[in-house]
Amino acid sequence: MRFIFMSVCAAFVLGPLILPAAPKGYPPGTLAEAARAAGVHAGVAVDHAPSDMQRKIAEREFTSLTLENALKWSPLSSAVGRYDFTRPDLAIDWAEQNGMRVRGHTLFWGRMNGPPPWLEGELAAAEDPAARLTELMRLHASTVVGRYAGRIEQWDVVNEPLSAFGGNHDPQNIFFATLGEPYIDIAFEAAHAADPAAVLFLNETLAELVPVKFDGLMALVERLLARDVPVHGVGLQAHFYTRPPERDTLQAQLERIESLGLYAELTELDLPLSLFKKESDPLAAQARAYGDVFAACLAVPACTGVTVWGVDDGDTWLDNFFLTERQAPNRPLLFDKLGWPKPAYGAVVEAFRAAAQAKR
Ligand code: XIL
Repeated sequence: MRFIFMSVCAAFVLGPLILPAAPKGYPPGTLAEAARAAGVHAGVAVDHAPSDMQRKIAEREFTSLTLENALKWSPLSSAVGRYDFTRPDLAIDWAEQNGMRVRGHTLFWGRMNGPPPWLEGELAAAEDPAARLTELMRLHASTVVGRYAGRIEQWDVVNEPLSAFGGNHDPQNIFFATLGEPYIDIAFEAAHAADPAAVLFLNETLAELVPVKFDGLMALVERLLARDVPVHGVGLQAHFYTRPPERDTLQAQLERIESLGLYAELTELDLPLSLFKKESDPLAAQARAYGDVFAACLAVPACTGVTVWGVDDGDTWLDNFFLTERQAPNRPLLFDKLGWPKPAYGAVVEAFRAAAQAKR
């Protein structure tokens, strides 16, 4: 425990010993500068103990930070009512020192490292599991959102409510299985009460790639709005691991979110190089796809940011994700494992520059 604490502190507090390479052909910081000029966030997800190289790149090139794991319920809470905020506290201080916006990811997620290990047992032992879960959710939202009120601009309040490839609720989701759809109302209302200024998102995966899932997501959001649930935005994760993105489809989806009066963000973008393996120059094809995704967001005023899910190709969740680890290294990000910008970096800069130019 002590060791983890020391290394987390060292990762955030000590100055970097190695300076990462500057982007080829672009002065350092070009990406963040282009994003600021376009008025749309270039975000990055960083895990709890970034390397010096990752820290430097994140500070220099991105305007928004998502903590890849540190704010999820499971890593935060080892026992009922017990919280350890060491990691997010350090990371959020660091983001603020570097003028980065923070996206809070994520309050209620029924998969992977979302639910805390004790939750299932706690509900099984409860006389009234629905009432107990409601109480625990309210406590969790007020504790975590309340702690960072005014500092975390956006929260992914509910993550991945729908089944993997369909438009209905995931029946395995512990929150849905216990409370039905009203768990989402409870989640948003509690988060809103804890920080009325926070912009509250419903975040979903694979909706960009599965039309029936996108339709199901929109139907869910419409029901929430009809019930006056304080949902302010829809996040599309944009893990394009089954096929490459289509710019027009993505833009039309963002426009549909906008038509509901909501913000949109692409919250967890990555594009494995294997998607482009049949192309003569896969890195150039990956770059075009990156440019397309950012351009889709930049064409829609409601789309306020795009976040890539990791700094560099040496550290991507896809290399350990059961559906994609067999194609490791996936090389899905903007920087290679040595910190050099890839062609995709240039394509994203150019997408931002084109959007900034069009605004003038
Ligand atoms: C992933 C992290 O990247 C991994 O480090 C962790 O082991 C599991 O979660 N959708 C989400 C993210 O909303 O929280 C997930 O992050 C990736 C899929």
